[in-house]
Amino acid sequence: EHGVVIGLLGLGTVGSGVIQIVNEHQQELKHQVGCGITIGKVLVRDKDKYRESQIDQDQLTVYAEEVLNDPDIDVVIEVMGGVQQAREYILQALNNKKHVVTANKDLMALYGAELLKVAADNGCDLFYEASVAGGIPVIRGVSEGLSADRITQMMGIVNGTTNYILTKMEQDGRDYEEVLKEAQELGFAESDPTSDVEGLDAARKMAILATLGFSMNVDLEDVIVRGITTVTTEDMEYCKQLGYTLKLIGLAKRTEGRVELTVQPMLLPNSHPLAAVQDEYNAVYVYGEAVGETMFYGPGAGSLPTATAVVSDLVTVVKNLRLGVSGRTIHSPLHIKELKTDEE
Ligand code: NDP
Ligand code: HSE
Repeated sequence: EHGVVIGLLGLGTVGSGVIQIVNEHQQELKHQVGCGITIGKVLVRDKDKYRESQIDQDQLTVYAEEVLNDPDIDVVIEVMGGVQQAREYILQALNNKKHVVTANKDLMALYGAELLKVAADNGCDLFYEASVAGGIPVIRGVSEGLSADRITQMMGIVNGTTNYILTKMEQDGRDYEEVLKEAQELGFAESDPTSDVEGLDAARKMAILATLGFSMNVDLEDVIVRGITTVTTEDMEYCKQLGYTLKLIGLAKRTEGRVELTVQPMLLPNSHPLAAVQDEYNAVYVYGEAVGETMFYGPGAGSLPTATAVVSDLVTVVKNLRLGVSGRTIHSPLHIKELKTDEE
C-alpha cells in the first residue's frame, strides 16, 4: 500500500510549511487518515534557487503538466498565488479528477463559485480553509460550526501584514516602510504587498466569509475599501494618547436581505477585544442571532500556521477519498443552491 500522493503547485512560505508538517507529523496524519501521505512532484518557477525545504531536487519541476497530468498524484495543493494561472491549473487538476486544496483568497473571492461547481461535477473535493485568516479554522467555524444560526454580523482583523505594521508602529514608534519590509521578510505579506496595505486582501477575505456566513453571493466590487498607506507614526501616537488603538477592520453586516461590506482603518477603544489582537495575529468576531457572540482568534499568516490549515484540508480530502465520499461534501451554501437548481 503506497498511500495518497500529493502534488504541490508552489514551494514558498506556505508550500515549505506544508512539506514540513507532512514530513514531521507523519505518525499523527497516518493515525487520522489510516494511510501514508507522500509528496510527489512540486512545481516552482526556478529549480535552481536555494531552498531550505525538506525536498529532493528531483521532485522539483518547472512544468505544471508534471503535476497536473501525473496519474500517481491524487491531490493537488495550490500554494503559488496569483489568479489566472492558478485558476487554469486548478481547473485542469479537477478535470483530471484530482482533489484540490488551495490557500488562494484572490482566486476564491473571484472564481470560488465556478471552481466549486467544476469540483462537484468531477466528483472532487476543493477546500480552501487557509484562504481566510491563516491558521484559524474560521471557514469551518462559520460554514459548519455556526450553520444552524442566522449570522447577522462579522467583524474582523483578517490581514496579518497590516496588523503587524500597525502593532509595531504603535508599540515601538517604528516607521511604516521599515515594518512593512520586516513583514515581507517574515513571509506574511503577499508577493506584491499592495493588496495587503490597500485593504484588498482583507476585502477578499471578508467577501469569502460573507458569502459563507450569509449564504449570499457577494460581489467584491460592492466592498468599500480603504487601506493603511496614509497612516503615520504621529497618528498612532495621537490615538494612543486618547486611549484608542487603530486597526484595519473588515465589517460585514446583513440587514433585510442586504449585505454591507467595508474594510477600513478604525479607532477602537483599548478595552475592545479586537484592540488586543497584535502582530500577525487575526481575529474574527461573529454574531449569530441564536448563539450570540463568538470570536475566532489565532495566527493569520506565516508558514507553519497557514500550513496547518492546508494540511487539515488535506486530511479531510484523504478521509473522504478513503470513505468514497469525495465531492459529496457540502462546500458552500452556493453549491447547495446550484444542486437544487439542477434538480428542479
Ligand atoms: P511565496 O511567494 O512565498 O511562494 C510562491 C511559490 O509559488 C514559489 O515557490 C514560486 O516559485 C511558486 N510560483 C509562483 N508563481 C508560479 C508560477 N507561475 N509557476 C510556477 N511556480 C510559481 O508565496 P506564499 O507561500 O506566501 O503564498 C502562497 C499562497 O498562499 C498565496 O495565494 C497567498 O495569498 C496564500 N497565503 C499566504 C499566507 C502567508 O502567510 N504567506 C497565508 C495565507 C494564504 P519559486 O520558489 O521558484 O519562486
Ligand atoms: N498576506 C496575507 C496577510 C497572508 O498578511 O494576512 C495571509 O492570508
